[in-house]
Amino acid sequence: MCGIVAYLGKKEAYPILIKGLERLEYRGYDSAGVALFNNGNLNLYKKQGKVANLVEFAKDKDTSGSLGIAHTRWATHGEPNDRNAHPHFSGNESIAIIHNGIIENYDVLKEELKKRGYVFKSDTDTEVLVHLIEDIQKSEGVKLSEAVRMALMNVTGAYAICVISKDDPNTLVAARKSSPLVVGIGRENDFYLASDATPIIEYTNKVVYLDDEEIAVVNLEKGLKIYSLQDEEKTPYVQELEMQLEALEKGGYEHFMLKEIHEQPRSINDCFRGRLNSVEGWVELGGIKEFEKKFTKAKRIVMVACGTSWHACLVGEYLFEDLARINVEVEYASEFRYRNPIIEEGDIVIAVSQSGETADTLAALELAKSKGAIILGICNVVGSSISRITHAGSYTHAGPEIGVASTKAFTAQVTVLTLMALSIAKKKGTISESKFRTMLAELEAIPAKVSEVLKTNDLIEKISAQYKDASNALYLGRGSSFPVALEGALKLKEISYIHAEGYPAAEMKHGPIALIDDEMPVFVVATEGPSYEKVVSNIQEVKARKGKIIAVVTEGDTQVREMADSVIEIPATDEHLVPLLATIPFQLLSYHIAVMRGCNVDQPRNLAKSVTVE
Ligand code: AGP
Ligand code: GLU
Repeated sequence: MCGIVAYLGKKEAYPILIKGLERLEYRGYDSAGVALFNNGNLNLYKKQGKVANLVEFAKDKDTSGSLGIAHTRWATHGEPNDRNAHPHFSGNESIAIIHNGIIENYDVLKEELKKRGYVFKSDTDTEVLVHLIEDIQKSEGVKLSEAVRMALMNVTGAYAICVISKDDPNTLVAARKSSPLVVGIGRENDFYLASDATPIIEYTNKVVYLDDEEIAVVNLEKGLKIYSLQDEEKTPYVQELEMQLEALEKGGYEHFMLKEIHEQPRSINDCFRGRLNSVEGWVELGGIKEFEKKFTKAKRIVMVACGTSWHACLVGEYLFEDLARINVEVEYASEFRYRNPIIEEGDIVIAVSQSGETADTLAALELAKSKGAIILGICNVVGSSISRITHAGSYTHAGPEIGVASTKAFTAQVTVLTLMALSIAKKKGTISESKFRTMLAELEAIPAKVSEVLKTNDLIEKISAQYKDASNALYLGRGSSFPVALEGALKLKEISYIHAEGYPAAEMKHGPIALIDDEMPVFVVATEGPSYEKVVSNIQEVKARKGKIIAVVTEGDTQVREMADSVIEIPATDEHLVPLLATIPFQLLSYHIAVMRGCNVDQPRNLAKSVTVE
């Protein structure tokens, strides 16, 4: 995954690169490193751990120079240590590279390069590329950009790279395939390159998103030129960014995750703003308007995603099947892509992804596209790869999500899926006018109700203190609250490292019930609705085995309150919209438990925000 950032211009590069790395640290934090050109030399500093370690390490060193590349790593090949940290030098130390991705044929290339006398200093796949570039430059006598292009022709896999050479300090060469890369065009004839726009935004809003197999050559005299891997020059498509800098700061909260949980009334509102009107009775998603007819005729929708986004798809399945009466299959992108799936004419494949860069989701979409499906995207990051390869799509407009654990992106994804299901249901006539209007009005009321749920924060903190030392936890729910249970369990395990499982409440008796004893917390969604009584019975089954019940209930509930060890009330809403409210107590609970256990909430171990490797 890794974050990469580079600068070429007249300013001091080091502070720009360090700030950029801090913004990209969510992408990986195994090590950080920087290479800077100064006085005919490339100075290389790299350190295991976070950017702060690098800053400490480099504090007495020469960090001047106005050309530099920097990297924050999420290791795929080779341990997370100083040696494997990027940047990597070529054999004669004249070229430095940073890389995000995986060079799949690195072992073959490595053997060849070793035979030609190259000595490898790291265990990474990346290092082969920098030796290869040097080797080509030496044997072909070509300039850096040409050597990079020729080297990439020999490489299979995924990459976003930036390369600099001490023999050509006015030039920065970058390229991408399946890993993201943005070029910012500065106001002072300077250039900023990064994995996403967050390190760039305070310097310029003019950016070019590189496409797959494109090479960007940035030169102080000639400016930005873009070429295909086949060496055809392309016209850069310059876009204006709308992102606000404040959206990237913590805004007084202790962690990004807590800030993002509290942003949900606004982010859900931003998500449906301008897309529905309950008084006039319409809902419209501009991005997919031209595909509405295809939706109404579709026999099947396949949703592909990973992690939390996959849970959002499961909620989408309930919504589309119940409201729009379309058969939905929800697939793990990583399984779908390798299964030779059956795609029939008229099938619609929807990818849901916060980052829009998840490698498996991207590959699943490409496969579906090659089989003739209509592919649509629901993404949060504007300009991301998924949003660019799909036929159409809808952004979630949740704003940048920095905490590695997804919170506001999930509720925004569920909101978009709700809008989509409602608009198709209306077109197909599978929803009555009165139900349609009631649901629109209920959706409009959700942000205020989320604010109500957030007021339970103190209560949830107390409950968290009781269960912070648990080793296991179960999450149960039925219907569209089953994905809420899955999401609750994922949140707990990823940030607090407590083992947790989500189950459909009725499945519990087919196995997991064996785990229940007087130490096992069982978190249950037991809100009003058709399956309420069934969930009450499941709660009884847990109580009979002395398990601890923490239930999310509808305001005013008395029946569950009598049985449960703790209850968290949420306002009443339409049963289809319960996931938007019921998920929030579980987010807060995981947050507080993780803080109490001393875990790094925003950057949990072994994880990265954007999983651009398979
Ligand atoms: C959620 O908290 C995760 N860390 C993770 O499961 C995430 O949802 C998954 O990697 C998918 O990412 P995407 O939405 O950016 O595609
Ligand atoms: N494969 C490279 C490494 O392990 C880059 C990792 C990545 O982009 O995730 O160092």
